[in-house]
Amino acid sequence: MSQLGEFAPKPTSAARTSLSRIMGPLDVNLLGTVHGGVIMKFVDEVAGAVAQRHSGGPAVTASMDEMAFLEPVHVGDLVHAHAQVNWTGRTSMEVGVRVLAEPWNEAGVPPTRVATAYLVFVAVDADGKPRPLPPVAPETDEDRRRFAEAEIRRTHRLARREAIVRSREGPGAPG
Ligand SMILES: CC(C)(COP(=O)(O)OP(=O)(O)OC[C@H]1O[C@@H](n2cnc3c(N)ncnc32)[C@H](O)[C@@H]1OP(=O)(O)O)[C@@H](O)C(=O)NCCC(=O)NCCS
Repeated sequence: MSQLGEFAPKPTSAARTSLSRIMGPLDVNLLGTVHGGVIMKFVDEVAGAVAQRHSGGPAVTASMDEMAFLEPVHVGDLVHAHAQVNWTGRTSMEVGVRVLAEPWNEAGVPPTRVATAYLVFVAVDADGKPRPLPPVAPETDEDRRRFAEAEIRRTHRLARREAIVRSREGPGAPG
């Protein structure tokens, strides 16, 4: 059955979600800045909510692209993670997350962009097997740009995975 025939498309805004959290003393490393892993978990949480809301059921993290941290996050920062579905395939989707930080106790300070992350989630059934999901319907020019760029990232992810599999099967592969 075709993807479009199975489900009605769902607009990007339907599952778009934001999470905010104040960073506390348990979130920091010995240098006093927030652990990258704390931000990654936060990103995975908001992206997981988006993936489940879009797909209408359980969805698991299949991969998280390289994530660059642009600015340090400190104790007392109010961190916001904004997430949406950028692209959908048959059973997988890319969720993009933008992370911003601002002081928790001061209004009017422009938020700093801390990181951007792209995650692939796969919608799964009760047995943990991939299940089809509704296609995302981008609504704005920005949504359409994100969709097009997500397709490029998907092509690279699959090509990289296949190249590694091929190299393991090749003549120089360790037995
Ligand atoms: C994700 C998972 C369900 C995929 O199962 P699978 O049998 O390999 O699935 P398939 O090969 O049929 O691929 C399903 C879809 O996922 C995509 N996909 C799978 N692994 C991927 C990866 N590493 N990167 C990008 N896409 C991936 C496939 O391209 C396919 O997309 P499409 O249907 O939209 O075309 C399975 O690997 C799994 O359960 N992983 C553990 C997930 C988990 O527990 N995450 C939490 C971290 S502890």
